[in-house]
Amino acid sequence: MKPFYITTPIYYVNDKPHIGHAYTSLACDVIARFKRLDGFDVRFLTGTDEHGQKIEKAAAVKGVDPQDFVDEVSQSFRQMSKILDITNDDFIRTTEPRHKNAVQHLWKQLIESGNIYLGEYAGWYAVRDEAFYQEDEIVDGKAPTGAEVEWIKESSYFFKLSAWQQPLLDYYAKHPDAIQPESRRNEVLRFIEGGLKDLSISRRTLKWGVPVPGDADHVMYVWLDALTNYLSALGYPNDGYQKYWDHAIHMVGKDIIRFHSVYWPAFLMAANITPPKTVFAHGWWTVEGEKMSKSLGNAIDPVEMVDTYGADAFRYFLLRDLSFGQDGDFSKTMFINRLNTDLANAYGNLCQRVLSFIYKNEDATIPTPGEFSDEDKALMAMPAALLPTLRSSIDNFHLHRYAEAIWQIIGEGNRYVDAQKPWALKKEDPARMNTVLYTLSDLIRQVAVLTQPILPVASAKISAVLGQKKNDFSMLEVVLKSGLKIDEPLPLFAKYV
Ligand code: MSP
Repeated sequence: MKPFYITTPIYYVNDKPHIGHAYTSLACDVIARFKRLDGFDVRFLTGTDEHGQKIEKAAAVKGVDPQDFVDEVSQSFRQMSKILDITNDDFIRTTEPRHKNAVQHLWKQLIESGNIYLGEYAGWYAVRDEAFYQEDEIVDGKAPTGAEVEWIKESSYFFKLSAWQQPLLDYYAKHPDAIQPESRRNEVLRFIEGGLKDLSISRRTLKWGVPVPGDADHVMYVWLDALTNYLSALGYPNDGYQKYWDHAIHMVGKDIIRFHSVYWPAFLMAANITPPKTVFAHGWWTVEGEKMSKSLGNAIDPVEMVDTYGADAFRYFLLRDLSFGQDGDFSKTMFINRLNTDLANAYGNLCQRVLSFIYKNEDATIPTPGEFSDEDKALMAMPAALLPTLRSSIDNFHLHRYAEAIWQIIGEGNRYVDAQKPWALKKEDPARMNTVLYTLSDLIRQVAVLTQPILPVASAKISAVLGQKKNDFSMLEVVLKSGLKIDEPLPLFAKYV
């Protein structure tokens, strides 16, 4: 099986999860689930970023020890994964020994290759972004991101980022897909072309971090520490990490593309490790037209959403509504509309109409079909025929098109029910009714295979009703068994006002 490696950013544990975190994790989950169904050997990683000044401060505000603080908040991110039905294979925390060892090893590699030197940093630092800013980037006394900045002046180790400007440009010229979408790639290239300055990679005035090997007065810059999680979770520096590493896809929000596409590949090249295969930056959600913020208290809590609407509904909306890569707005009205239109009315109704009809009128048994018409055959062949399109929507990160394409088939299914009228055939032509019901059940069975990456809960329910145990894409090639007893189908999706 071909290895496949996908990662979410590791989340800061200064606060509980919100829609932004849920979105990144969910996008990765859809891709990971699809690849597993498609026969890949998938490794899907998420976790928490637990060091640095931001976390140290958040713990201090609560008056708790940073370790106790991160232990607690990290749990809420594990919980988020569970609640959203995210199928990560591992959950890494930067406070774990396996991670600290890996970062310290990487540091030593950078020392050995002559990429680190001791100097003095004097400049601006934004704790919220955990980022250094140049004087000319400061706008009205703030970071370009709007974050508060403070002036720091202290002895610091530097990474020779300036030496990697040309190698990075060369690398991206050879690997045009390494940064996606294209607009982000251009943004990164412009930044690199603008000139790279050496990067401060240690802090003296901070205690909450991974100690610099051989100099206990310094802890590592939190981004060097955090980025290395993608390697430490694969067992780096032990042999064997390359198996997945060579296929790495980092999914990130647009705000952290520079860390992933400039600093990270430079650190890696300097340590003689290949850069990640792809970094994809997705857009940001606003809520009812406003930026999410603490002062507005308008964050969408994934746990509350799932409690109220179920994991599938929240997953479906986030994935379907926003053109993947673009910014979008979460509006309650749009959310409810989607659930009612696409889930309850279109998909739910198709399943309910057909399966309840069979349950009630056919003694809960999949009927034996007669001769299939061309239309029947065409309908049953649609899901398998869609697979190449779905594959390309996943491989090209057009995640919103995934559901869109499947819903066209669901639409066809509903039109077919309306045209064939199985309830009328019951009296007029029972044999034809059997063929129609069989055709529809087979369609539903296959659609449930395709919808698994987005709607794992509903898909599992449909498969259970239809007694289908295995659910990978090979199931698109088998036929539904006539005479199969089905369980009582319960409504899959609620309707909301
Ligand atoms: N800890 C760093 C990442 C280190 S990776 C080596 C970090 N963490 S974060 O918790 O602040 O953000 C994690 C992810 O959530 C980012 O990809 C970010 O873009 C995403 N989002 C945060 N708010 C968001 C929205 N409002 N909308 C969509 N995604 C956003 O950055």
